[in-house]
Amino acid sequence: FFAGMHTHMIQSAGAAQQTASRVINILYGSQTGTAESVANDAAGIAKAHGLKPVVKGMDEIEADALAGMEYLLVITSTYGEGEMPDNAQMLWDAVKSDAMPRLEKLQYSVLALGDTSYDLFCQAGKDWDERLAALGAQRIYERTDCDVDFEEPAEAWIKAVIPFMSGGSTTATVVEAEAPAEKSQYNRKNPFPAKMLVNRWVTAPSSSKETRHYEISIAGSGMTYEAGDALCVVPTNCPELIKDIVDAIGCNGDESEFVHGELMPFSEALRTQFEIKTPSKELIEEIASRSGNKELNAILQSGDKDKLADYLWGRDTLDLLRQNPGCEFSAAEFIELLKPLQHRAYSISSSGKKYPDSVHLTVASVRYESFDRQHKGVCSTFLADLVDDTTEVRCFFTPNKVFRVPDDNSLPMIMVGPGTGLAPFRAFLQEREYRKASGKNWLFFGDRNAATDFMYRDEIEAMQASGLLTRLDLAFSRDQAEKIYVQDRMRENGAELFAWLEQGGYFFVCGDAYRMAKDVDKALHDVIAEHGKMSEQQAVDYVNQLKKDKRYVRDVY
Ligand code: 2AM
Repeated sequence: FFAGMHTHMIQSAGAAQQTASRVINILYGSQTGTAESVANDAAGIAKAHGLKPVVKGMDEIEADALAGMEYLLVITSTYGEGEMPDNAQMLWDAVKSDAMPRLEKLQYSVLALGDTSYDLFCQAGKDWDERLAALGAQRIYERTDCDVDFEEPAEAWIKAVIPFMSGGSTTATVVEAEAPAEKSQYNRKNPFPAKMLVNRWVTAPSSSKETRHYEISIAGSGMTYEAGDALCVVPTNCPELIKDIVDAIGCNGDESEFVHGELMPFSEALRTQFEIKTPSKELIEEIASRSGNKELNAILQSGDKDKLADYLWGRDTLDLLRQNPGCEFSAAEFIELLKPLQHRAYSISSSGKKYPDSVHLTVASVRYESFDRQHKGVCSTFLADLVDDTTEVRCFFTPNKVFRVPDDNSLPMIMVGPGTGLAPFRAFLQEREYRKASGKNWLFFGDRNAATDFMYRDEIEAMQASGLLTRLDLAFSRDQAEKIYVQDRMRENGAELFAWLEQGGYFFVCGDAYRMAKDVDKALHDVIAEHGKMSEQQAVDYVNQLKKDKRYVRDVY
């Protein structure tokens, strides 16, 4: 993003010498590579200021090293419910422990990446900021918390903090951003208008879940992707929902509104520009104050996030409006209270080598009934309900630099992907087939019922027959009285699983972050302790080493 920067040196030679050797440590905590790329951007600007940036992942240094530092920029994303990203956990555990030395020499600033749709917004960055201060380090520039639109605030933070790092002296170098030079012509600001080629069910129609297989054409886009990457899809909102919301607030939809300097009908703005399913905090507060709803006002005043989450469970914007009569808004007022409509990222289920002209996705459609009406997820049903094959699917790629088929084709891969967590592993297996990789492949897959939910069954069984898939272990949770999950299969096959790890195997997990990924992590520790004859602590160290080596990687959500 900052690749297009150029610099005008206007500083005197003397000032340049003063700061030429000052080392600026830039430490990133990254799940998918975003924080890492921002760290590299910061390093570029630091260099332009005559500083000596040293960029490191949080898993590349020991906590003691912090005590020797004078200048530090921490750039970290947050994962799941306010947790540290995978590469940050070990360092964080050490930094927050009582054994951590004080850091009185250190001057620092934190850039936090996050997503305001999560309760614990930017929590990892907040934790770092607070802990470094508590250890006596001096915060020389205020933390910036970035929402999903991180580029501009991140750039502003870098441009502001670097001069402080160079001694707060007269600005040594003027850095100007040209039009950002992007790697691909298509990106978040300019998505590719793709065509949907295939839209079919991969679960049986009688399944309790509707999961679909999509093939989206990228022919002619010049875009390429790797197995493990995600495709971001920019949805539009459902016309029926728009109509109901417009009615509920007492508008008609034809009102002309300026959005980003462009005049458009209100209903069109709601269709393409704003999040209208999940209400923003501002909208909830406005509805509470206009309607005088006692229950909702009490919850908001208590500041109890869990209570608010409980209240909002199953209630979308339209439910709130209908349940709180008297909430009339002008189109302009209403728009002010909405957040921009965001893309949704899906793990790609095809290999870009095997399918250079298309991207396959495997997506569960979100549909549920609550408050006597049908609700549907914004993007999953935008895709599912695309009937008109001329409708564009606006999309772009987001790379995942660590979730990758290993370069060494001879190493074993263990893949744990229940439900739609299977998606990237279909891509991984295609990739290994394309490369004619000799390494063994082991898939753990599970879902509710074999008869209806065994997605891509023919393909998977063909991979088994051809020998590409060395081992397949299935866990259908609802085919018998007691639940059987993928982690149970891991434990049953613990000796062999440990043997694969000892052979240099990679361990990949994709799917549900809150329950599955945690239970699988526990099972992994237990298997290693039992079959490696290790203590609990030794198993923790073993797993930490796997993480450090990027041999235990997760794509969980
Ligand atoms: P369940 O819904 O029958 O409990 C994909 O969603 C599969 O993951 C389903 O079979 C689901 O089982 C299962 N699942 C639910 N909770 C899980 C957990 N904590 N660990 C692993 N799998 C889980």
